[in-house]
Amino acid sequence: MRDAPVDSGENRGQRPGNFRLCYKSSVPFSLDGKSALVTGAGRGIGRAIALRLAASGAAVMVNDLDSEPAAGTAGLIRSSGGQAAMLAGDVTDPAFPQQLVDATLAASGSIDIIVNNAGYTWDNVIQKMTDEQFDAMIAVHLTAPFRILRAASAYLRETAKRELAEGPRVMRKVVNITSISGTDGNPGQAGYSSAKAGIIGLTKTLAKEWGRYNINVNAVGFGLIETRLTQALSGDASIDIAGRKIAVGVQPKALEAIRQTCPLERAGTPDEAAGAVLFFCSPLSDYVTGEVLLCSGGLHF
Ligand SMILES: NC(=O)c1ccc[n+]([C@@H]2O[C@H](COP(=O)([O-])OP(=O)(O)OC[C@H]3O[C@@H](n4cnc5c(N)ncnc54)[C@H](O)[C@@H]3O)[C@@H](O)[C@H]2O)c1
Repeated sequence: MRDAPVDSGENRGQRPGNFRLCYKSSVPFSLDGKSALVTGAGRGIGRAIALRLAASGAAVMVNDLDSEPAAGTAGLIRSSGGQAAMLAGDVTDPAFPQQLVDATLAASGSIDIIVNNAGYTWDNVIQKMTDEQFDAMIAVHLTAPFRILRAASAYLRETAKRELAEGPRVMRKVVNITSISGTDGNPGQAGYSSAKAGIIGLTKTLAKEWGRYNINVNAVGFGLIETRLTQALSGDASIDIAGRKIAVGVQPKALEAIRQTCPLERAGTPDEAAGAVLFFCSPLSDYVTGEVLLCSGGLHF
């Protein structure tokens, strides 16, 4: 048997029927007509995910705790010719997940992609970690994604049943954001790492519950990505949670140690982080579910 001809890539421009490139993002798929919801999309990785999804053609519902950065992301998408709506709000407010799902449906008529990204760190060694600290980490990184997915489940299941009866397969995507702190553990992060490990359990369970509805449910775990969360701790950067200021950042010594241990010898950029998420939001991952993709430059804690 002869080997199949290898495509060198040179012929792609001459065979648009076989290799339809998305003109907007230079990737071999388009998310035109898809509606995506991204939490914590006002800054950092969430903003990069929202921009990547919009550049691939999706209409994006931008959520963030802080309205100004959320409006900034939505504005960037619109000024590049994309479609965006925004709803500022706290994903840990028990009533908010349903409002967010309803607002996404009202804005674009469907939900095809959900990225549970919103989060922050509130660290301490276990003997100093309060119940409030531990619970806050579980609330934002685990309970909120659970409530958002539960709120979306009626729409997702009913829509899938109708589509299954009608014919052509339509895939939908859930991507939950985890961390190597969740897969490997990390001193000082009992709450954060427990929540980030928990979201992997939720991911794997929903992959099994929702496979029948053609929904891929996967997780992406980051190592060190350059964002507000991982800047050198100076005491200046903080996140305001229910009126309480929580310092964010990492001890400079720890940052240096991480960089030295990372096989790629550097932190990743938000755009590189978003690339791994985009894979799970795209048709390239239609037969992948219940998986955790580490985007960490090879770093493990
Ligand atoms: N940066 C890293 O190295 C790294 C590593 C592993 C995992 N992560 C995860 O990636 C995700 C994004 O983090 P980032 O590094 O981009 O941080 P970031 O601080 O730059 O952005 C996070 C965004 O989430 C928002 N947010 C926080 N709590 C919220 C809430 N209750 N409701 C709505 N929005 C809320 C913040 O306002 C902020 O805009 C988080 O889940 C984080 O745990 C990041």
